[in-house]
Amino acid sequence: MGYDHIQVEIEAPIATVTLNRPKVLNALSPDLVREVTTALGGLEADESVRAVVLTGGPKVFAAGADIGDMADRSAVEQLRRDHTGRWAGVAAFTKPLIAAVNGYALGGGCELALMCDLIVAGDSARFGQPEVNLGIIPGAGGTQRWPRTAGKYVAMEVMLSGSPITARRAHELGIVNKVVPAEMTIEVARRMARQLAEKPPLALRMAKESVLKAFDSSISEGLAAERQSFYFLFSTEDQKEGMHAFLEKRKGVFKGR
Ligand code: CAA
Repeated sequence: MGYDHIQVEIEAPIATVTLNRPKVLNALSPDLVREVTTALGGLEADESVRAVVLTGGPKVFAAGADIGDMADRSAVEQLRRDHTGRWAGVAAFTKPLIAAVNGYALGGGCELALMCDLIVAGDSARFGQPEVNLGIIPGAGGTQRWPRTAGKYVAMEVMLSGSPITARRAHELGIVNKVVPAEMTIEVARRMARQLAEKPPLALRMAKESVLKAFDSSISEGLAAERQSFYFLFSTEDQKEGMHAFLEKRKGVFKGR
């Protein structure tokens, strides 16, 4: 399928989705968002793909929602279009999703990175929520995901000041998994994706679901959901393969069944 604002490259068992509006620093227009969620829907269904890298390329991740597209919209128009609600398709993706971030990840761009499961940042990366400078607040999860990941005071600083933080600070705060030289970011993320792609897909899916549940439930609900997934996995061929491969001292081969 052809896209106008993104590129999708499948090198099974991984795929790379690249935001591609370089002239406006990958500003997240409604069309671009639609393309990303459509592409992820396709990759979700494609059994040959087991992990995905999401990147903006070598220079910039994304400088946020498209300000030109929003500047003169009314509240009712914004509500009807529910532009930020469409991002739910990214957060709902069930396979490992790794953000490879170079340069600016601002506003919706930062929120998009925070929807991913792992973040590899180039040393040039900058993460921030400058919405307050535009007279708005983040609308795609920033006010909720920052405090749950970095804590209240960091979240307040980022939201209220609108100033971005460096990749190193983001790493110290636990928002970024790895900081690497900018020219290595995408390759390191792909390497991580290939490593994950060798693992049992259903166990990965349940692990991801369980961790995300921790952001959204009481501990007793989370523990109950975790237990159900744990027992469920004993119904899979991959669990038998994983445990027998261990006992037979060989590498497991997993089918996602
Ligand atoms: N929307 C639309 N266009 C954007 C954009 C955005 N978010 N960010 C940058 N651009 C455009 C610029 O208008 C400029 O276009 P022209 O060449 O036609 O003038 C081009 O991209 C290059 O940008 P700059 O010349 O500004 O580049 P710079 O290197 O001097 O500055 C920057 C880079 C600091 C990221 C600056 O572009 C900037 O501050 N961008 C806006 C960041 C922002 O406020 N993001 C939040 C958006 S709101 C949001 O995301 C809401 C939400 O939660 C969903």
